[in-house]
Amino acid sequence: MSEKASINISIFKRLIGHVKSYKTLFFVAVFCTLSLAVLGPLRPMLIGEMVNKYIVQGQDGELLLFWSGIVAAMLLGEAALQFANSYFSNLLAQSVINDIRQKLFGHMLSFRMRYFDKTPIGSLVTRVVSDLEAITEVFSAGLMEIAGDLLSLIAVISMMLATNWQLTLMTVVPIPLLILATRIFARAMRSSFQLERVQVNKLNTFVQEHLTGMAVVQLFNRQEREFDEFKEINKGHRQAHINAVWANSIFFPVVELLSSLSIALLLVWGALKAEGKTDAEIKLMYGQIISFTLWVQMLYRPIRQLADKFNILQRGTVRAERVFETLDLMEDVQDTGTIKNCDFDQSISFENVFFAYEDENWVLKDFSLKINRGETVAFVGATGAGKSTVINLLGRFYEYQKGEIFIGSTNLKAIQLANLRKNIAVVLQDVFLFSDTVHNNITLGDPEISREQVIAAAKEVGAHDFIERLPGGYDYQIGERGGVLSVGQRQLLAFIRASVYNPHVLILDEATSSIDSESEEMIQRATAKLTEGRTSIVIAHRLSTIHSADKIVVIDKGEIKEIGSHTELMNLKGYYHNLYQKQFNEENEV
Ligand SMILES: Nc1ncnc2c1ncn2[C@@H]1O[C@H](COP(=O)(O)OP(=O)(O)OP(=O)(O)O)[C@@H](O)[C@H]1O
Ligand SMILES: [Mg+2]
Repeated sequence: MSEKASINISIFKRLIGHVKSYKTLFFVAVFCTLSLAVLGPLRPMLIGEMVNKYIVQGQDGELLLFWSGIVAAMLLGEAALQFANSYFSNLLAQSVINDIRQKLFGHMLSFRMRYFDKTPIGSLVTRVVSDLEAITEVFSAGLMEIAGDLLSLIAVISMMLATNWQLTLMTVVPIPLLILATRIFARAMRSSFQLERVQVNKLNTFVQEHLTGMAVVQLFNRQEREFDEFKEINKGHRQAHINAVWANSIFFPVVELLSSLSIALLLVWGALKAEGKTDAEIKLMYGQIISFTLWVQMLYRPIRQLADKFNILQRGTVRAERVFETLDLMEDVQDTGTIKNCDFDQSISFENVFFAYEDENWVLKDFSLKINRGETVAFVGATGAGKSTVINLLGRFYEYQKGEIFIGSTNLKAIQLANLRKNIAVVLQDVFLFSDTVHNNITLGDPEISREQVIAAAKEVGAHDFIERLPGGYDYQIGERGGVLSVGQRQLLAFIRASVYNPHVLILDEATSSIDSESEEMIQRATAKLTEGRTSIVIAHRLSTIHSADKIVVIDKGEIKEIGSHTELMNLKGYYHNLYQKQFNEENEV
């Protein structure tokens, strides 16, 4: 990014394009802004005339009263316009931002998991929340007011020229200085805005990660270290803002000084002109000097604000650039499939599938497996072997690089994602729960799933009793990430989730962490119940869960080593036998 004070025009145009849906609002706001820009400068002209006519020359007093009434009415009109202006331009801004934010989040929802693997959540939060806030200002405080300021500048200068060109020249003498100051200021602000954004992002990411990982922080007694790091980041954040404030605090006094200089010049001019003139002639200058003193204020304020508003535009476009980058990212899984009603009550076959999360670090190598319809297949293998990866591919959360997967004879990639995911339910290894009720966590907000269905499913997997015991039962509010629920209980909720969706294919990825034997028994029973009559894949860490599986697949470093029933594999005395013996011994040691 360049240090130059400038605005990326194409980004700006794209931003403005979003106003299209709100044409009426836009024109109302433009009307208010422009009327205000002209009405304001008219007042000093009137006042100057009034002073000359009715005070200096002492004409008709009643007319003075009449014109004062007009000035007061103009003031009231301006106030009303100002109200309308600020209301409608904010309404416009919020409506536009609402649209962009919706589009942005909707777009992010389609990103494949790989994107979230490599992007810190905090920085996405920055994008959806604070970047868009800065963009809001472009519409509420930047754009319209720049137009208004420019117009009122033109209006003021024209009226000044029409009144007295010599006085006008006097007044504008300090303006080149002002423009210079403005340019320096704008440049300083731009770099501090960029710094500010980097710091806000750092802060968001840090806070988000550390609050999420609080248990780790406390477990390892890292509070002090992490707190120190936080202090550093917070300090950087403060510094970034202070930089901006510093530029501001220098700039505004400079502008004040320059406008006072203008007024001083006016008075000097008046004094020089007065020399050798009669009283009556001097008095005639009063009105003009009063008008010009008022105009000077109106001249400097827009110029000063222009710099300010320009900054808002700059900041907005810098942020918009980030937002558009995200909007343009095509990180989504290609949903090119057209088949909407594939029959999932068929076999699933993996044919020579190769997959790597990164480059060519194959996590699955030449993976071939046929799962018959209605069969329960268990995957076992060491941690990191690639078991969860297989289901990531089947759910198309990641794209596999080589080989094919078929449902019956239909290529997985030919099936629409929505159709695929409706038919395959996955109970993930770590169950994520939203801060919502038990009921909503099970239905995921689907109003078509009734409480009765939820209760029936809960009874089926044997979780009804424990849910009933929670305060409020199914309406119990779960804290973010599961809060007070145990790992086993969370997994049971995920089972109910899968069960109410009544999928054709069920995938259970067992949590690695050891759970108490009561929960284990519940989970085993639930597993047996859920896999009944469905094509199922069960990833098991406790081998006792899978004795009755139709097929056990042993995966090691992304390759299938053994396939067979429990008895067959035990007789083989290979990997599975070893694994089984090891676990059996461990359990007996405890
Ligand atoms: N999102 C990811 N990005 C990059 N590499 C990953 C990602 N997820 C997993 N891996 C890597 O892929 C390999 C297989 O991981 P996978 O999660 O499939 O193992 P697993 O067999 O399910 O292990 P576990 O029994 O511990 O659940 C591991 O080496 C892991 O480091
Ligand atoms: Mg896993």
